[in-house]
Amino acid sequence: MSGKIVILGIFVADTAHRAERQPRMGETILGRSFALGPGGKGSNQSVAAARAGGTVHFITRLGRDAFADMARATWRDAGVIAEVSEDTESYTGSAHIFIDDATGENAIIVSPGAAGRISAADVEARAALIGGAAVFVTQLEQPMEAARRGLEIARAGGARTILNPAPAAAVPAEMLALCSYITPNESEAAGITGLPVTSVSEARKAAEWFQNHGVGAAVITLGEKGALYHDATQSVHVPACAAGPVVETTGAGDAFNGAFAAALSRGDDPVAAVRFGCAAAGISVTRPGAAQSMPDLAEIEALLARG
Ligand code: RIB
Repeated sequence: MSGKIVILGIFVADTAHRAERQPRMGETILGRSFALGPGGKGSNQSVAAARAGGTVHFITRLGRDAFADMARATWRDAGVIAEVSEDTESYTGSAHIFIDDATGENAIIVSPGAAGRISAADVEARAALIGGAAVFVTQLEQPMEAARRGLEIARAGGARTILNPAPAAAVPAEMLALCSYITPNESEAAGITGLPVTSVSEARKAAEWFQNHGVGAAVITLGEKGALYHDATQSVHVPACAAGPVVETTGAGDAFNGAFAAALSRGDDPVAAVRFGCAAAGISVTRPGAAQSMPDLAEIEALLARG
């Protein structure tokens, strides 16, 4: 029987343009293709966790508009329980995503709109839900203060807490100490610690930095090199789990975080949960889009069974 996963974060509509390169300032270039779809790290992670078998509540703020309708349809289809404050004075946000047609890698500008107004008071209003979570997850696309209050309430209630520090920002020491797990990618780990993170051994040094700053365990995702799990008793490099050719990397970190949370919520040990997360990410990159690329439990289990 799985415990409840509560995720705090943002939904935005992703506008994804595939092109050979990014335009220079003042230049217009022709793209190869365009797609509109559901995004936002917190929402993507919620969809990933629910599709991977978790019971997921997602706390956010939306406007009242067509993108809000897209959000609600996305959560309904994935089985995510929406905990939404409607903000009629703002709008549901959007992300501009450039996808390199050759590699599938991306560069993103995200404008959170209403979700950029999520406050500590909004989080307080969901204190009973957060306090009863088995696993609580948040990121840094909504205001830091809301993330901090969520981590505090979850920790006081005995939840395992996951901070996905994306986009990278200076995280105050008292907030790091509230994290059972921190899950940066290489560039976020480098940005926060000030250390280079381009290899597994450098990731281990960054993980030690996180531990020295009060985090329970660091889980540093390393793209095609997999992920490093590092706590006080073990440091384990989990290789990537390739499912096929890379089409688009948008949402791969979210696939990892959502699946990692789902595995923890059903009682997997953290290294097994990292393996499960790597498999989910390995599948997501073979598909276009963010939320639409999240695999279901059977697909993740089938890939892990292939070994
Ligand atoms: O992690 C990928 C997500 O980051 C995209 O879906 C985009 O919306 C941004 O929030």
